[in-house]
Amino acid sequence: MVTPHPQGPGTLHRPVTADEHRQAMRHLATGVAVLTTRHDGLPHAMTLNTVLSVSTRPPTLLVSLGTQSRTHGILHSAACYTVNILASDQRHLAERFAAKRPMGMSQFDGVPWEPSPITGNPVLPDGLLAIDCRIGRRIPIADHTLFIGDVLGVTPARTGAAPLVFACGDYEPEGR
Ligand SMILES: Cc1cc2nc3c(=O)[nH]c(=O)nc-3n(C[C@H](O)[C@H](O)[C@H](O)COP(=O)(O)O)c2cc1C
Repeated sequence: MVTPHPQGPGTLHRPVTADEHRQAMRHLATGVAVLTTRHDGLPHAMTLNTVLSVSTRPPTLLVSLGTQSRTHGILHSAACYTVNILASDQRHLAERFAAKRPMGMSQFDGVPWEPSPITGNPVLPDGLLAIDCRIGRRIPIADHTLFIGDVLGVTPARTGAAPLVFACGDYEPEGR
């Protein structure tokens, strides 16, 4: 039996601050992905870890982007995105695509990529795999938008390699 909170369900003595919420969520370990898309015909990428499989029937994937990111603006008019799941030795790519580099080809300088056969978005061949999605819904929530994608296909790259893991504000050391 659940004992009711003395002040009623959902009652807190004060609101949780943004910083407290951020600190709490640091404890949730996640994988790391690079979302790719195209803008004016040029490739664009950003690092993200808010990737959620919403459903398997039909296969549906969710990503959450802050409204201040450039990619958020691009996905408002793009039809699709690709989620490249990173391997444990790809921390450098996570860091590169989290940085605000100039948009366009130079963002990918020295990074091997191939166009997805399904969407044409960049696929990172040294990642674990790439998931192509068509954007089905855009749901604004506070300062983020949830982009719900219908999965169009999965391109295996290095399936079986260990995933890159992010926890407590840092990447897990390789091979731990
Ligand atoms: C490990 C990690 C995970 C991140 N996850 C997200 C995320 O889920 N959503 C988001 O909007 N930004 C996320 N970011 C921040 C973006 O990568 C960063 O703001 C980036 O500069 C946005 O690029 P853009 O302005 O070109 O879109 C993450 C950064 C790191 C390092």
